[in-house]
Amino acid sequence: MLLNTIVTIGLTLAARVGAHPRPQAWPNGPFKTSGPNIVDAHGNTVTYAGVNWPGAADVMIPEGLQYSSIQDIVSKIKSLGMNVVRLTYAIEMIDNIFDTGSDIPLSTALETALGADNATIVLDQILSHNPSFTASTTRLEVFDAVAAELSNQRIYIHLDNHISQGTWCCSLTDGNGWFGDTYFDVANWKRGLAYMAAHVKAWPGLASMSLRNELRQVQNDSAVNATYGWELWYKDMTDAAAGIHAANPDPLIFFSGLEYDHTLAPVTAGEPLDDAGTVFRLADFEYADKIVFELHSYDNAATDCAALQSQLYAHGFNALDVSAETTAVNVAPVLLTEFGFNQNATDYQTVYAQCLKDFVTGSGRTGDAARITGTIGWMQWVLAGSYYIRSGTQDYDETWGLLNHDWSGWREQTVIDAYNVPMVEGTLA
Ligand SMILES: *[C@@H]1O[C@H](CO)[C@@H](O)[C@H](O)[C@H]1NC(C)=O
Ligand SMILES: *[C@@H]1O[C@H](CO)[C@@H](O)[C@H](O)[C@H]1NC(C)=O
Ligand SMILES: *[C@@H]1O[C@H](CO)[C@@H](O)[C@H](O)[C@H]1NC(C)=O
Ligand SMILES: *[C@@H]1O[C@H](CO)[C@@H](O)[C@H](O)[C@H]1NC(C)=O
Repeated sequence: MLLNTIVTIGLTLAARVGAHPRPQAWPNGPFKTSGPNIVDAHGNTVTYAGVNWPGAADVMIPEGLQYSSIQDIVSKIKSLGMNVVRLTYAIEMIDNIFDTGSDIPLSTALETALGADNATIVLDQILSHNPSFTASTTRLEVFDAVAAELSNQRIYIHLDNHISQGTWCCSLTDGNGWFGDTYFDVANWKRGLAYMAAHVKAWPGLASMSLRNELRQVQNDSAVNATYGWELWYKDMTDAAAGIHAANPDPLIFFSGLEYDHTLAPVTAGEPLDDAGTVFRLADFEYADKIVFELHSYDNAATDCAALQSQLYAHGFNALDVSAETTAVNVAPVLLTEFGFNQNATDYQTVYAQCLKDFVTGSGRTGDAARITGTIGWMQWVLAGSYYIRSGTQDYDETWGLLNHDWSGWREQTVIDAYNVPMVEGTLA
């Protein structure tokens, strides 16, 4: 009896310890902003250095699970020293929950995206690598499992609404480019953001959420295209951000810009956004200390690093410049949440790739950008490997992936050693 009691107590303790193997301090959230920095609950600066893990395409779950366990994928990210994943999702996943009253199971998600025959094969592969799942595990439960393992390995989660419809993003004709576009229902988008904001309270590593990836003009619908610009941007983005903050006051909220998120120029500079003279002022928002800016750079053919950095500064990184000469009115963190290139033995040596490395680590800033102090957060596009399906092609190979086709190792070790790891170290040192 006594022995049994001792054993029971021992098991109970072991179970408790097993459930919380890490000290409870991490991630020291919730995060907020302080001038150009993200700071944790103790006021320590937090800088992101990581990678995009896509989960917004047709199946609407994180990629790669037919080739690898979640744990192995997360361990690979961790082995580079990275501390954040930009995890992308589609609003359609949440629309399905509202429409059907329940989340879609893996079996159905795969069948809809891949057809019955391949769905059976791919489901078996996913289950063999990730035996805690079954055919009835739902999409959001897969996200939950990815988030749990990222948290377990102490990698921050930046949850990114990538697109409305679950499909490869982004083009001018895909119907997801701008508020009111064919598949971009604004009310559903705001509903989806708020839903996920509430849902992620259960993710210990969740640190931040985005509003929308790469807003852009639309080609097909001139009436929708005619509303493209900063006036509607301001209205819809601030309204959606308020919805996230109301649903969950903890996450940082990332504001992206126009032109495929290549510019936030009038926002950071505090210039009028409409004829009435509306300007973006951080102080106007209850969640002012949650606002972070994000930009992308895909000027892969750049030949002039000084010009590239000058453009990055003018398009929004000026918000990091706290010197007297700054051209920004709004000072806040700005992150490079997408950039990337062919992960082969030569592309990392381009002006573009090297210039961005110098820009974020601060090892080679020129012109106006030289006034920015500290390092700049970033996430490289992209972790995959390959996609369940991309633009109609199943098992699509991603030449820009850090991982190889079957997610078993790095696509090109030279790039990992000469570029990725030094960039992480240069950013987080
Ligand atoms: C827009 O037009 C292009 C070219 O006609 C077409 O391929 C595409 O499917 C259209 N997009 C939408 C959302 O209707
Ligand atoms: C869309 O609107 C922009 C102005 O915002 C204009 O430059 C562009 O030509 C328009 N494109 C189409 C296809 O209507
Ligand atoms: C790397 O990819 C680029 C295309 O982005 C190509 O031009 C170049 O030849 C490739 N290099 C190697 C070594 O394959
Ligand atoms: C099944 O997937 C393979 C790639 O793994 C693809 O080549 C083939 O076309 C797919 N079959 C169907 C019926 O879609």
